[in-house]
Amino acid sequence: MTDRKPLGFDNGLTNYGDRDFARYLRRSFASSMGYSGAALDKPIVGICTTESGFNNCHRHFPEMIEAVKRGVLAAGALPVTFPVISLGEVFLSPTSLVYRNLMAMAVEEMIRAQPMDAVVLMGGCDKTVPALLMGAYSAGRPTSLVVGGPMMTGRHKGERLGACTDCRRFWGKFRAGEIDGDEISQIEGRLAVTSGTCAVMGTASTMALIGETLGMMLPNTSAIPAVHADRLRAAEETGALTAQMAVSGGPVPVDLITRESIENAIRVLLAVSGSTNAIVHLAAIAGRAGIAIDLDHFNRLSDETPVVVDLKPVGSGYMEDFHTAGGLEAVLREIEGKLNLACRDITGITLGERLARPLADPVDRAVIRSADQPVDPLGGLIALRGTLAPEGAILKRAAATPGLLEHEGRAVVFCSLEDLAARIDDPDLDVTADDVLVLQNAGPRSPSGMPEAGYLPIPKKLARQGVKDMVRISDARMSGTAFGTIVLHVTPEADLGGPLALVRNGDRIRLSAAGKRIDLLVPEAELAARRATFVAPAGEAMRGYAKLYRQHVLPATKGCDFDFLLPR
Ligand code: FES
Repeated sequence: MTDRKPLGFDNGLTNYGDRDFARYLRRSFASSMGYSGAALDKPIVGICTTESGFNNCHRHFPEMIEAVKRGVLAAGALPVTFPVISLGEVFLSPTSLVYRNLMAMAVEEMIRAQPMDAVVLMGGCDKTVPALLMGAYSAGRPTSLVVGGPMMTGRHKGERLGACTDCRRFWGKFRAGEIDGDEISQIEGRLAVTSGTCAVMGTASTMALIGETLGMMLPNTSAIPAVHADRLRAAEETGALTAQMAVSGGPVPVDLITRESIENAIRVLLAVSGSTNAIVHLAAIAGRAGIAIDLDHFNRLSDETPVVVDLKPVGSGYMEDFHTAGGLEAVLREIEGKLNLACRDITGITLGERLARPLADPVDRAVIRSADQPVDPLGGLIALRGTLAPEGAILKRAAATPGLLEHEGRAVVFCSLEDLAARIDDPDLDVTADDVLVLQNAGPRSPSGMPEAGYLPIPKKLARQGVKDMVRISDARMSGTAFGTIVLHVTPEADLGGPLALVRNGDRIRLSAAGKRIDLLVPEAELAARRATFVAPAGEAMRGYAKLYRQHVLPATKGCDFDFLLPR
């Protein structure tokens, strides 16, 4: 902690060359908002909100903001809400990932530029939590995080539905002709039925658990459903704690986000079989702290961390089940022996002290298993390397078809998303179930902005034969709610001329999850000849943020942050 005294509205005075004038003017203008002199003298807690009409997941934020404010006021500080960019996953083009860094920059600069002694970050939808944490880390003020929490499930013909694993499952059935247009329209209205983030262990839920594991959130609040009264109580309590942090001056993110807490977050990611996207975001958060995630170390952690939760998209439960089953508190206890217990959280206690407390309720073992009877003895995700991905790729082995984890097949190549859309359902496409589908030019630097397109659809003619999974490889990402034998984040990406760009129809490709390898079985001399004739895809004439993004985005293995945002 620092010995900084709360300055309230005197923080970071506007520069007129006369500090007293700047203070007098600021207090005058703040008074115009109806603040009394007593209010103007209080420590200030900024509430960084990502409410937006283009973000369904954050629909309940107005009520949550009131709860945070209540906590701040009750603890003697002044709450001041301010907006930053919001990223509603399905409302952004080309992808939300492209704008994550823009949001992180807005968060960092608005925390730094505006007068606040501490800040409550409010996010939830996939990219918002990483952007908030990245920005807040770099801004360096005392910071807490509160998330929106997951949606509740809907019902269809007696079956529970949750966004968005079931979105994909039913879309697959529709493509295979198993359900008709009327039924898919009916399902459309039943998938996402409340405010909150996607109802499964997708990216938003994974990042919420990671935020808590990093110590940035109140214990066991990451998975409280969006519509539960406990969600508001957690918001109020976070406000009160952050008011204390405004006075004490800490902890600041650098105190909490350390090499050790990042390793704990990786352990949790593996134990909950979380989203592949979370690796990108965790690498970006770690990058702000000057910490690189070593893929070989990641694999060692994966091989010794069991999957202990049975949730979709891999298993059968939903986030509301996870919360009532014991939540993160229960998961942490199952992997306690593998965690760095000296890490602290915003309440000031260590993880060891937290886990020494008895659990309030028995754990529901149908949802959260014990470590000695896990869902899987190995972690849910692994990194791959090989001649196709010299700098790495990711496979969610827990979501893969076991029979495809060791597989060799013939490449069927799509050179872009447009090419994929044009040909994947062509009845004349030369493809069999044993082939390997390859998508090029969908990485971070590509014009498509690393979309969640790695879940390539099964060609319709194979889907109608009952084929449910194939090995699919790309430099794209995959939704945290998706599943299949899917190799993602291939680095270097095709846009930069990586080996992925050199794959041609008919090449042999071998995936070995056991060997942690993905190899293009083409002689080096032939690859060298192809490399010599490689022509980078024509870039569009760009300006503004798109140009900044393309010029500075780092590879997926480094979190897709901008190079100039890393610590000097
Ligand atoms: Fe917001 Fe899934 S769309 S969390």
